[in-house]
Amino acid sequence: MLHVLSHTSHLTIPHLKKSSTFANMKVLVTGGTGYIGSHTVVELQQKGFEVVIADNLVNSYRETVDRIAKITGKCPAFEHIDLTDKHLVDQIFAKYSDIQHIIHFAALKAVGESVQQPLKYYHNNINALINILESMRKYAVKNLVFSSSCTVYGQPDVLPVTETSPIQPALSPYGHTKQICEEIITNTTAISNFNAVLLRYFNPVGAHPSALIGEFPIGAPNNLMPCITQSAIGKRPELKVFGNDYNTPDGTAIRDYIHVVDLAQSHVAALERFIGEQNTKKLEIYNIGTGNGFSVLEIIHSFEKVSGKKLNYQIVERRAGDIEKIWADTSLANRELQWKAQSGIDEMMASAWRWEQALSAPNVLR
Ligand code: NAD
Ligand code: WQD
Repeated sequence: MLHVLSHTSHLTIPHLKKSSTFANMKVLVTGGTGYIGSHTVVELQQKGFEVVIADNLVNSYRETVDRIAKITGKCPAFEHIDLTDKHLVDQIFAKYSDIQHIIHFAALKAVGESVQQPLKYYHNNINALINILESMRKYAVKNLVFSSSCTVYGQPDVLPVTETSPIQPALSPYGHTKQICEEIITNTTAISNFNAVLLRYFNPVGAHPSALIGEFPIGAPNNLMPCITQSAIGKRPELKVFGNDYNTPDGTAIRDYIHVVDLAQSHVAALERFIGEQNTKKLEIYNIGTGNGFSVLEIIHSFEKVSGKKLNYQIVERRAGDIEKIWADTSLANRELQWKAQSGIDEMMASAWRWEQALSAPNVLR
């Protein structure tokens, strides 16, 4: 269990001036105590939106709600529910009948686990979405933002990858749930009165500058960033680099890493597009990355530079299911969402390190 950090209690987070433009606009954020969801709730509140979080805490902590409140000065409503329960989802929409927009983050996302337990992933990720969509239709909710993933592209033949790049056969049941959910949303939006936007995230890393929220996986992490920070702080004996025999400049795989705060802000930009009725289609799709690719070794070297820590890493064999390289063409999101990632790789590394150090401070029990 994550307890509030005493050493951050002195932090005075400047409460950014709230915009009156979105005052009283209510947004349901499913998965809102999760990594990306919590950062998005902060950005929404700082823009003046009213937020309701629905989360079953299968991969996050109730404490995160209090941490969000500490950053923004306003505590979001929190509903502890499993979104695969149709009746409970309907109750939420009946209780918060003034919900106008939904950002749907809630899903299981561990690629390796999905290979071992495919039905758990198909049940959770697809049924939760179906329940949300059915309630949206019943309660006339206007707009949906859906968490998709660059994983739908597989290994693109041409880089950078655009929103019209081919969707490749999924490499895991998790990735397959994202492809299926995109198709369900596409087909449902076509015959419904609501709009939807699919945001295809690349690789989110880093943490809020307050170091009060960040990536906090329950159990051993699989993603590169927490593996690096946990290795640097001594929670993990060593860092494994999965393969250096790829067809890349230094042989290690390349990804488009994006600061989680930049990613969070893209969701606000997507909502603003809907609110301003600027969307030209009922269903829109955007790549949310930086447009820059970095290799594993480049990430490691950037982290060592900003943290001053020397990482003990070992090159091992490739990880099954990994693609070689991917980075985004983000020009559509830049133009139509009027959004562009602001943080560079060093700030991503520095914020991730600040978060790991905060997690490891005294008085924090897991
Ligand atoms: P996360 O695990 O931190 O957050 C997901 C949240 O959803 C958790 O708080 C979990 O408790 C909740 N949840 C899961 N199933 C639920 C259910 N049935 N009912 C209620 N709550 C439920 O993950 P994240 O990294 O914040 O990812 C958020 C979304 O973005 C997910 O849909 C994920 O697939 C997608 N995504 C993540 C990444 C990434 O690298 N983190 C990349 C691309 C897409
Ligand atoms: C990045 C690179 C690894 C850990 C995954 C999911 C994707 C999305 C984002 C949900 C790869 C290498 C990693 C380590 C390493 N999640 N690596 N040592 O695999 O690009 O994407 O998370 O939507 O669906 O597949 O991210 O952070 O796991 O790996 O060398 O200890 O780092 O091989 O090249 P990935 P990642």
